[in-house]
Amino acid sequence: MADTILEAEGLYHVYESKAEDGNVVALRGLHINMKEGEAIAVVGPSGSGKSTLMKCLGGLMKPSAGSVTLVNKNMTRLTGHELVELRQKTVSFIFQEGNLLPDLNARDNVAQPLRHQGVKSKKALAIADQMLTRLGMAHRVHAMPSMLSGGEQQRVAIARALITQPRLILADEPTGALDPVTSREVLALFKDLHENDGVSFLLVTHSKEVAAFADRSLELRDGRFVAEHGENVDVEDLSRDRELIVDDTGTVTLPPDILVRLGGAGRYTVGNLSSGYISLQGESVESLGKMVLAQTCPACKHEYGDSDDQMCPSCGSSRPMVEAKS
Ligand SMILES: Nc1ncnc2c1ncn2[C@@H]1O[C@H](COP(=O)(O)OP(=O)(O)OP(=O)(O)O)[C@@H](O)[C@H]1O
Ligand SMILES: [Mg+2]
Repeated sequence: MADTILEAEGLYHVYESKAEDGNVVALRGLHINMKEGEAIAVVGPSGSGKSTLMKCLGGLMKPSAGSVTLVNKNMTRLTGHELVELRQKTVSFIFQEGNLLPDLNARDNVAQPLRHQGVKSKKALAIADQMLTRLGMAHRVHAMPSMLSGGEQQRVAIARALITQPRLILADEPTGALDPVTSREVLALFKDLHENDGVSFLLVTHSKEVAAFADRSLELRDGRFVAEHGENVDVEDLSRDRELIVDDTGTVTLPPDILVRLGGAGRYTVGNLSSGYISLQGESVESLGKMVLAQTCPACKHEYGDSDDQMCPSCGSSRPMVEAKS
């Protein structure tokens, strides 16, 4: 069995706020265990906590509770200096946006992580040029970030992330800003690193292709992993090929579409309990109000009509459950 490269236990994160809507609990007790060489996708609707999770896993944000272990070192216990060193050696990030230092040109941006590791400037710049060439950016090495398109900036960011030859890449919608052709090229590069160099990937994505690249996908909803999907995940219809997750506190979260089919929130009796099998029978579901999927998106007012989409096709918000009108 391969070694664990990244492990998180009981991860919670609360964004504190004095504003009217109060605190936001973005992560609610997540567990994750990632083996060296694995590629895992994190899928789920907008606001489910994907970016928060990535920041906590990468040591960029301290979770409110829980622990993160990177190559057998508990990050939550490291000092600032130790943390920086561990990150530099092991992991690279690719964010949704804002990856580049605005005052450095493309090649200096890409070379910077190597220089931080003490590599001589001339050598670092030469490697940066090679990396930029690999990403089809050879003609733009002297451009400042503000002069590059979104997709070009993202390619520079990817070059910067790869230059230190990290063992793990954490990427938050890495191809979100790229056109389909560039996106496919970047994915081919990731595949090469994954298959031939054993690099591990944890990628947040809404893209079919990116999710298909992963060995498995974890479905995040309202700050909890609700299910796991195998290699052929369909990001547009997560209700297919889903395995529910029961965590070690015994908690299982039912995705909203399953809850609807079961009859909604309420009390259930447990019958037929045996190893690997459980059956639930609705008790007084009716009296607690039957829940159905909302007809209208609360964020953008999109009308769902007959569709059983879980995610709003126009704004990406998670589709809530509402009490059925009788
Ligand atoms: N800095 C912050 N302060 C307060 N709340 C925040 C902050 N950042 C995120 N949130 C809230 O935390 C929750 C999770 O946000 P997060 O950015 O992790 O979602 P996401 O899954 O990455 O969404 P998207 O797909 O839109 O990028 C949301 O409810 C969001 O409004
Ligand atoms: Mg996000």
